[in-house]
Amino acid sequence: MIRFENVSRSFFNKVIVEDINLEIADNSITCLIGESGGGKTTILKMINRLIETSSGKITINNQDIAKQDPIKLRRRIGYVIQQTGLFPHMTIRDNIAIILKMTEEKEKVDERVNELMHMVGLDPNEYLDRYPSELSGGQQQRVGIARAFATDPEIILMDEPFSALDPVTRSSLQDELLKIQNKTKKTIIFVTHDMDEAIKIADKIAIINDGHIIQYDTPENILKHPVNDFVKKFVGEKKIWRSPELIKVEDIMIEHPVTCSPNFSIFYCINKMKMSKVDTLMVINEENILQGILYAASLTNINYDNKKAKDFIEKDFIAAYPTDSIVDLLELIDSHKITTMPVIDKKGHLKGLITRSTLLTYMSQQFLEGDEEK
Ligand SMILES: Nc1ncnc2c1ncn2[C@@H]1O[C@H](COP(=O)(O)OP(=O)(O)OP(=O)(O)O)[C@@H](O)[C@H]1O
Ligand SMILES: [Mg+2]
Repeated sequence: MIRFENVSRSFFNKVIVEDINLEIADNSITCLIGESGGGKTTILKMINRLIETSSGKITINNQDIAKQDPIKLRRRIGYVIQQTGLFPHMTIRDNIAIILKMTEEKEKVDERVNELMHMVGLDPNEYLDRYPSELSGGQQQRVGIARAFATDPEIILMDEPFSALDPVTRSSLQDELLKIQNKTKKTIIFVTHDMDEAIKIADKIAIINDGHIIQYDTPENILKHPVNDFVKKFVGEKKIWRSPELIKVEDIMIEHPVTCSPNFSIFYCINKMKMSKVDTLMVINEENILQGILYAASLTNINYDNKKAKDFIEKDFIAAYPTDSIVDLLELIDSHKITTMPVIDKKGHLKGLITRSTLLTYMSQQFLEGDEEK
């Protein structure tokens, strides 16, 4: 784990980064995002001590990095920057192998360089003997990534590595990075200006402004619960709709559906529906476990003397889980042609209710908000 404890940094008496507290979990991708000049690069460079802290402490696995030899420290930390930082007069092979060669035998180096080229999706036979200028921007950036992974460091710092690339190349490199991360399980800290990029790749996002961390959370929580207007503006009001899989049933469900117990009289149940202006009741037992649904439609033209809710409940129902996404939900509703869907947990406890009109209201709200934005 990388931990920042009350870390500040000033340049010429001007505070650039102030009182940063941050814990970065192993094997995760953390994105630092924010406006230009906010201090993202400074925070990144303090991790490999290209910039020293003015006060506070940074630890890696509980070891204070200020007490470590910076050269050894940097060998454990890969670093990728926007301009790739490849040496123009060296071949791709030499660029990737530059650090490896200091410690490894030639055969080992060759083998590792080949493996790294495959990892970043470049054909070694075609590219290893070329010079950086003979590669496209995207290919150079792949080489930059290969070089950062060369010594198999635990931590990789990436400072806007993809921001100079066209959207298509950028997107495919993001995919590549996720694939590599899945295989190699590094701790990656990734600076970007692009919220869509952060949402796509990050386990956690830190929103940085004016040298402070404004919000540090999962992409899902940042989209759903921006802590203030700055984050809201940064995220964009409608961003959640670009990631509908992050909208969960529990975010939109009715939390306290109208219920009855199986032993209530039908007379009482019908009255309850009328009073609450609903056409279904969720029938639950004493433990709040859903037994079935009572539909108003099934109670017309019956003699309900002495009849109880349990005599008419529909026990064959389809339910959603709170953490199902709205995408799953729409599919369920569509394929089963249902209008009312209870939400239950894995043990069957009633948690809420989704109706077609809940969905419609929620969706139209988003569009209305979107219009206001213009
Ligand atoms: N070596 C330095 N000497 C003086 N000021 C510096 C130095 N490095 C950074 N700064 C200042 O610190 C502030 C934060 O810079 P930093 O590079 O960390 O921002 P950033 O968030 O990475 O910005 P960008 O998105 O433009 O890359 C800026 O105002 C910058 O001018
Ligand atoms: Mg920067």
